[in-house]
Amino acid sequence: MAQPMLDLHQQFQLKNLTLKPFSKLNNTEIELVWLMRNHPDIAKWMGSGGQIPLEAHHAFMARQSIENSNFNYLAHDQHGVSGVISLHRCDWRNCIAWLGIYRNPFRQETGLGSQLLNAICWLAFDIAKLHTLKLEVVADNTPAINAYLRAGFVNEGCWREAIRRDDSYIDLLLMGMTKQEWRSE
Ligand SMILES: CC(C)(COP(=O)(O)OP(=O)(O)OC[C@H]1O[C@@H](n2cnc3c(N)ncnc32)[C@H](O)[C@@H]1OP(=O)(O)O)[C@@H](O)C(=O)NCCC(=O)NCCS
Repeated sequence: MAQPMLDLHQQFQLKNLTLKPFSKLNNTEIELVWLMRNHPDIAKWMGSGGQIPLEAHHAFMARQSIENSNFNYLAHDQHGVSGVISLHRCDWRNCIAWLGIYRNPFRQETGLGSQLLNAICWLAFDIAKLHTLKLEVVADNTPAINAYLRAGFVNEGCWREAIRRDDSYIDLLLMGMTKQEWRSE
């Protein structure tokens, strides 16, 4: 498979936002990621389900430096950690990847989602030189869907009843953005 032109396991700076790759996090940051990912406001929207044991989290972090198609970043602004953004399933042949995102649930201010979405689009299109960014979101995740629409993502269909929650099955919406759409923002 074709490789990216640059090493994505490095720290990036977008104005006041620092994006630190998971492969370079210290122990305090690794534990904070675990606390955020397991927070009920975040975990309830993750297709992979709820609580992640700390041991499994450390094993996941230990694999980060050898990843070449999944890249995760801890984002910091002037007030502290704002959240996590990810480029998943990067396909360098077709220049496409899937977005991952969650805000820091321990911070209350509005606008963190917009800041993080701007950063992941910048990383995908201006830095990684991708052509298309896709995402999947559970159909009742209204805050996330609204944030994606505000950022310029477009509805591209749905996988019907793809997510199981208790005794029901919920649609998974597909959304996407192309490089031209990002440029026109
Ligand atoms: C997805 C996610 C990052 C979006 O972040 P968010 O904080 O909800 O979104 P924003 O910060 O963009 O917007 C929050 C509110 O602030 C407002 N806002 C956005 N930018 C603003 C700004 N610069 N100044 C003031 N208000 C702003 C928005 O209009 C929105 O208001 P509303 O709630 O009345 O609609 C967040 O919901 C999240 O982490 N969810 C849990 C994990 C998750 O679902 N991940 C996605 C899985 S697909």
